Amino acid sequence: MEFSGQTAVVTGGASGICRMVVFRLARAGADVVIGDVDQPGSAAVVAEARAEGLSVEAVALDLTSGASIEAFGVAVRDRKPPVRVLVNGAGWDSVVPFRDTTPDFRERVMAINLTGPMHLTQALLPVLTATPHGRIVNIASDAGRVGSSGETVYSAAKGGLIAFTKSLAREVARFETSVNCVCPGPIDTPLFRRQPEAFRAKIIASVPQRRAGKPEEIAEMVWFFARPQSTYITGQAISVNGGLTMVG
Ligand SMILES: NC(=O)c1ccc[n+]([C@@H]2O[C@H](COP(=O)([O-])OP(=O)(O)OC[C@H]3O[C@@H](n4cnc5c(N)ncnc54)[C@H](O)[C@@H]3O)[C@@H](O)[C@H]2O)c1
Repeated sequence: MEFSGQTAVVTGGASGICRMVVFRLARAGADVVIGDVDQPGSAAVVAEARAEGLSVEAVALDLTSGASIEAFGVAVRDRKPPVRVLVNGAGWDSVVPFRDTTPDFRERVMAINLTGPMHLTQALLPVLTATPHGRIVNIASDAGRVGSSGETVYSAAKGGLIAFTKSLAREVARFETSVNCVCPGPIDTPLFRRQPEAFRAKIIASVPQRRAGKPEEIAEMVWFFARPQSTYITGQAISVNGGLTMVG
């Protein structure tokens, strides 16, 4: 199978989009390590995956804590089989006008969506660049490409994640490590369902396909970037969004 002999680290794998990424990569032969702050959620995914005969485990990770990221890095970087794939998929937001945001809120949004993923990527970079075909896949958002009213800090963090993707792709290209980014539109997950009904209805009405996406539709794009055969594609941000935005 295409991911046999590889460990894939998937942050946010306890829920939504990245839960489906966990199953997509594990069914393709990867040993998957979930890094998530939601330990009961992670344990449920691990149990479900193991019942299917898949190799999935969970290690606690809180992207708002430098010490937690450091401990997670130590726990996974010398694993056998080695880490070849990092999916920075955990994310968080709450819809609120920018003028009403607090410093704590802004710090939390930036930590989970941008600075935490940067710290974790740096912690795992030595192993990801050690042999060809290291793959880093970041999950940003269309909000980071075109903005989203009520999600200004989140948009800034995701826009930063897209720029991080492009610059890091340049730095690590000589190791044949690729760094790419998936930008979901509205996807039917717990995160999306937590947003106000009016906000959700307005976005879905703007989608040419007139529906929210499914987590597996994002997992398919993550799988594409992560696979060893995706050898000449790096530094790219691609939207998977039913046509919501069409960025040239
Ligand atoms: N659902 C959408 O409409 C949508 C749209 C655009 C982008 N995204 C992005 O897709 C990714 C997945 O989102 P989702 O919709 O599946 O959300 P979700 O809430 O279902 O899952 C997010 C996961 O991240 C984890 N997480 C949150 N804070 C964390 C922390 N401090 N440390 C470690 N893990 C933490 C949660 O426990 C959860 O398991 C996120 O990066 C999100 O920003 C989602």
